[in-house]
Amino acid sequence: MFIERIRAMIPDAEALFSAEQEWQSIRVNLLKIGRDELVERLHEQFEVKPIPWCEYGLFVRGNIAKMLEYFLGYYHIQGASSMLPPLALEPETQEMVLDMCAAPGSKTTQMAMVMERGIVVANDVNIKRLRALSHNIQKSGATNCIITNYDARFMYKQGFKSRAILLDAPCTASGRIIKDKHRLDQWNYHRIQHMSNVQKMLIRSACECLEKDGVLVYSTCSLEPEENEEVIAYALERFDVEIEPLSFTGIRTRPGLTSWQGRRYEGLERAVRVWPQDNGTEGFFICKLRKY
Ligand SMILES: C[S@@+](CC[C@H](N)C(=O)[O-])C[C@H]1O[C@@H](n2cnc3c(N)ncnc32)[C@H](O)[C@@H]1O
Repeated sequence: MFIERIRAMIPDAEALFSAEQEWQSIRVNLLKIGRDELVERLHEQFEVKPIPWCEYGLFVRGNIAKMLEYFLGYYHIQGASSMLPPLALEPETQEMVLDMCAAPGSKTTQMAMVMERGIVVANDVNIKRLRALSHNIQKSGATNCIITNYDARFMYKQGFKSRAILLDAPCTASGRIIKDKHRLDQWNYHRIQHMSNVQKMLIRSACECLEKDGVLVYSTCSLEPEENEEVIAYALERFDVEIEPLSFTGIRTRPGLTSWQGRRYEGLERAVRVWPQDNGTEGFFICKLRKY
């Protein structure tokens, strides 16, 4: 069924199934080292090249998880497409960002790194994953993060308000097929429906927490329309939010789907889909909403 669904979404489904990830990716931790200095250090052992869409991202060939520089927090191992949602949010250097589903903290530490005097409130419901989040924040050297442990579906009931929110939602992660073809064995439509319901509760909460004129970036690493366009359509129908056009340079992206299984999704062409076969990365869905 997964295969038929993908064929109904894109004309080049076969390319997705044969896509390979040839390069690993890392994000230079500018709090601890300059990009050129790290490249120089890694060049001795690895083939390294820039990630065209992220000035502090690098593609690396080889096992980079055992390097001294890694343990020192000079870089964070992070999917090259996973660097996009914080770039879409463009947090200002003095503001406060709410990262609703933050663990293990790849995007939290990316935002904390560029925010200077800004603050990231990094929240996650899962206490075990909060440990990894806390470890990654400490390792990065960021001192501008606050960790919270709420069920984000109900965070709006705390009266929490923010002008910038990242909702990197829990998902079925089918975009990771490029890393792990066995993911297909676990593909299950009921899981998609369940996740879609959770995601709708999360985006509802995010919209309620968002200040007027504030910006919300919704992202998943799932390819399933029920977890992406459907969730955005749900928010557009119920809350005072509209889609902001989104574009990235240096990466091939495709527009969000405007229909699926007989349902039309108005304006969803302004969302962005990153398909694994286009850039040799994980798949991602990213949509930027503004509250009016
Ligand atoms: C895709 S992961 C987030 C990855 C993270 N943003 C990063 O870049 O490292 C989704 C996270 O959502 C968390 N989560 C799931 N349900 C949640 C809820 N109701 N409230 C808050 N967090 C939740 C999971 O524990 C998981 O850590």
